Amino acid sequence: MNIVKKVSVFGSLFALGLFALVTPEAKTAFYFEDAKEVNAAVSKLVGKNPDAKAIAELAKKYSLDELMHVFKFRAKGGLGVGETAGAITPDGIEAKLQGLQKKEADKADLAKNGKAYATMGEVSLILAEISEAHTPKDKKGEKDPKKWKEFVEKMRTGSKDLITASNKSDAKGLKKAAKELNDSCIECHGIFRD
Ligand code: HEC
Repeated sequence: MNIVKKVSVFGSLFALGLFALVTPEAKTAFYFEDAKEVNAAVSKLVGKNPDAKAIAELAKKYSLDELMHVFKFRAKGGLGVGETAGAITPDGIEAKLQGLQKKEADKADLAKNGKAYATMGEVSLILAEISEAHTPKDKKGEKDPKKWKEFVEKMRTGSKDLITASNKSDAKGLKKAAKELNDSCIECHGIFRD
């Protein structure tokens, strides 16, 4: 074992020990391997009508932060867009949504990537159900559970519209749905993400 490895192993053990002391469940410690596990668990539900029991289990097992990580770039441990890494850019759902809401996708793009865009909607739909399960219990200042539920509903509608528009190769509908969905992310984060 070289010195760099030794230092990093010591560092991780130290970090783990510290996390264990601060948070007994060590829920805040999130590593790439965990991201893979979350991605696999979310992917299993994609394309199905969200199964309430499976959603509840996921919401209980992982923190919202860990679950929302699916939206990040594939290179950062997120799910990415499409089946093949790097084939569609940007290769992260959050970043791709931001692009799709700004500029209407052209015919060739829709024909080639429509399926991948529909899957983005499916993933967001699962995350909307998971967010619902994570609704805060109490109102704290402007963090009102009622607002949370509104954003979740917007996320749900945006996701469904994204799926429909992608499947119909409806460029205008896709842009509109991407905006609606992306707005739900931004509005909720604006109030609830510290
Ligand atoms: C109903 C509220 C809500 C909605 C809607 C929402 N988020 Fe989040 N999101 C949160 C909260 C709260 C956190 C921070 C959780 C924490 O720190 O424990 C978060 C965290 C994240 C993170 C950070 C994950 C990490 O690994 O650090 C990403 C990325 C993210 N959200 C993307 C999205 C995207 C993309 C959408 C829309 C498609 C979205 N979110 C919709 C509430 C929401």
